[in-house]
Amino acid sequence: MWTTLRTCFRGLTSRRPATNREFVVRLVRRHRCRRVAEVGVWKGDLSRMLLRRCALEHLLLVDPLERGRNLFVSHSRGPHPAMMEPGVYNCRMGEETLTQAELDDVYAGLVAELDRDHPGRTTFLRLPSLDAAPLVADGSLDLVFIDAVHLYEDVLADIAAWLPKVAPGGVLAGDDYGPAFRGVIDAVDEVFPAEVRRVDPAAGVWHVRKNDIEGAKRRFMRCSGESRGCS
Ligand SMILES: C[S@@+](CC[C@H](N)C(=O)[O-])C[C@H]1O[C@@H](n2cnc3c(N)ncnc32)[C@H](O)[C@@H]1O
Repeated sequence: MWTTLRTCFRGLTSRRPATNREFVVRLVRRHRCRRVAEVGVWKGDLSRMLLRRCALEHLLLVDPLERGRNLFVSHSRGPHPAMMEPGVYNCRMGEETLTQAELDDVYAGLVAELDRDHPGRTTFLRLPSLDAAPLVADGSLDLVFIDAVHLYEDVLADIAAWLPKVAPGGVLAGDDYGPAFRGVIDAVDEVFPAEVRRVDPAAGVWHVRKNDIEGAKRRFMRCSGESRGCS
C-alpha cells in the first residue's frame, strides 16, 4: 500500500506547476546547456540555482542594477504590466524600491559571493542588455534567459540583440509570458510564430529552439519563393 501511495504522491508532485526559476533550471538541464546567460539578474536567486543545480561551464550575468532603469515613466505601447503604476515602470520584485546605494551593495555582495562559491564560472557585465550583447560572440551561448525590462519595445530589442548569441541547437527563453505582462506576450508572439514558440503557462516562461527558428525561416523562404504557396 505504501508503494502505491508513494507512487501516487510522486505522480501528483511531478505534475505540480514549476515556478519560473525551477522551470528554467529544468530547461537548462533538459537541453544540457553549459554556457548560459541571464539577462536581468536582480539579487541573483536564479543565478545561484543555475550554478548549484546545472552542470554549467559558465554563467554570464547581465544587469546594470541602476535605479533609473527599474523606475521610470514609460512610453511603452499597450496595456501595462502589474508591476506598473499607471505610466510608471517600477520593477521592485515585490519589495521596497531600492536606492542606488542598495543596488550597488547587491552587486558587490553578489559578485563576491559568486567568486567565492563558483570561482571562474561567472562573469557579471554590469551593463544594460543592449550594451552588453555586442561584447558577446555570436553563437557562443547554449541558452539565453531574458528577464530584464518587461515592456514590449524592450523585450523586442532584447530578443534581437541576444538571439544571434545563441549557438545552433541552443535555446532563447524569457520570463513572465502572462497576462500581467502584455508587452512580453506581444513581443514574443510578434517575433516567433506559434509553431516555433513554446510556453509553459504555469511557469510563465517562453522558449524557442534556434534550430526550430531556422527551420521555420527556411520554410517561409521556400513558401514565399513559390507562387503555389505551401501547405
Ligand atoms: C525581473 S528582475 C530579474 C529577476 C532575476 N532573473 C531572478 O530570477 O531573480 C529584472 C532585472 O532587470 C534589470 N534590468 C533593468 N534594465 C535592464 C537592462 N536594460 N538590461 C538588463 N537588465 C536590466 C533590473 O535591474 C532587474 O534586476
